[in-house]
Amino acid sequence: MSQRKYNTVSLIRKKRDGKSLSSDEIEFMVRSYTDDEIPDYQMSAFLMAAFLRGLTDGEAASLTKSMLHSGVVLDLSHISGKKVDKHSTGGVGDKLSLILAPIVASCGVPVPMISGRGLGHTGGTLDKLESIPGFTVDVTLERYLEILKRQNMVLVGQTEEVAPADKRLYALRDVTATVESIPLIAGSIMSKKLAEGIDALVLDVKFGSGAFMQEHSQAMELAKTLVGIGEEFGKRTIAYMTDMDQPLGYAIGNWLEVRESIDALRGGGPDDVMEITHLLAGTMIHLGGKAGTVEEGIDQSRGAIQDGSAWKKWLEIVAEQGGDTKLVENPGIYPAAEHVKDVKAVEDGYISAMNAYEIGMVSLELGAGRRAKEDRIDPAAGILLKKKVGDRVKKGETIARFYTNNRNEMDKSEHFFLNAITFSNTKPDKRQLITHQVDTNGVHPWNR
Ligand code: URA
Repeated sequence: MSQRKYNTVSLIRKKRDGKSLSSDEIEFMVRSYTDDEIPDYQMSAFLMAAFLRGLTDGEAASLTKSMLHSGVVLDLSHISGKKVDKHSTGGVGDKLSLILAPIVASCGVPVPMISGRGLGHTGGTLDKLESIPGFTVDVTLERYLEILKRQNMVLVGQTEEVAPADKRLYALRDVTATVESIPLIAGSIMSKKLAEGIDALVLDVKFGSGAFMQEHSQAMELAKTLVGIGEEFGKRTIAYMTDMDQPLGYAIGNWLEVRESIDALRGGGPDDVMEITHLLAGTMIHLGGKAGTVEEGIDQSRGAIQDGSAWKKWLEIVAEQGGDTKLVENPGIYPAAEHVKDVKAVEDGYISAMNAYEIGMVSLELGAGRRAKEDRIDPAAGILLKKKVGDRVKKGETIARFYTNNRNEMDKSEHFFLNAITFSNTKPDKRQLITHQVDTNGVHPWNR
């Protein structure tokens, strides 16, 4: 039996001392943990050793493979068309999946999307979707395939059968400060995406204060690793490097972000949200074979918003997965958080920085995220920004509105939020939102 093959403590020690593990040894760790033969505390020690010592490319590939094969690898060949998915490395206010999945599906490309929950300061697509009353993200594999076939898209969480090792490791990393590691992130993302049975993948790799890899150079390494793994497994994979130095859009928090996504699908999305959405959606449409170039794909993506087809697809998927479509059509009737507070500027000037990590943590404390694995999310909690970087404000002007059902968090949160904002007398230079495209041919600056 696998648990007798190696001594777990010896493998932890080996990694702790900076040595490389064989693919068999990595497979042993992943399989034994998934089968409950290694306890959380030993896996936590191993993860921390891997975090601090790093993994070689070979170890990262073995990790991805072991996690991928810890469950079923779906075969979607009976569904016609090239199946394309998108994944983000995680950010604050990043609600793009909710907008682009219906766009791409309505343009004829099947989107078999399996998403995650919030991790650390970042939000998760599943938590956002679950803020819609009735919306079910936990489905059986059979139901997953049925939804995908009927709707040309699906928005669910990992079933027990799909990459179960990642599901467990992801939750453990979240609470052991072992998220921000290139090989661990790459293994986590690619194992679940490859298990979906996709033909191609578009990746949104974030850099800046709200990203797991804050340094552009580190995020670029992650992008190259992700693309390398995807291509090694025979999937066309394109990544974009996008700025997460301030939150994306204006809404942070689960229902607030669904609401902003509804506005976006109806043609009223914020510029930054729409710029990245159309790029990622356009690339998916291109990789799905429905557009000759990314630019043509972007045109189709814009068209799907303008002619209402993406909105129609959104209503269909909400209904299919049990969500309350009346509420989605009339978001104003959603039960508001009990406590609402306007946060005011403490000085005159331009907002020159908004630390997305800190703001994500404030939103978490207001109730929109989890401090521990078993915490419950408050769907109505979060922050609605009224101002963003580059805006000029007067002292006393509202820069954000807080929503929470936990009154105790309000004052402390306001203090932390204001600490996350930098004011200056001069207008800051505009940062480039999308800097590079990374594909199998290399790194291409993105100036379009
Ligand atoms: N997203 C994932 O799916 N996994 C990670 O480890 C980080 C971001």
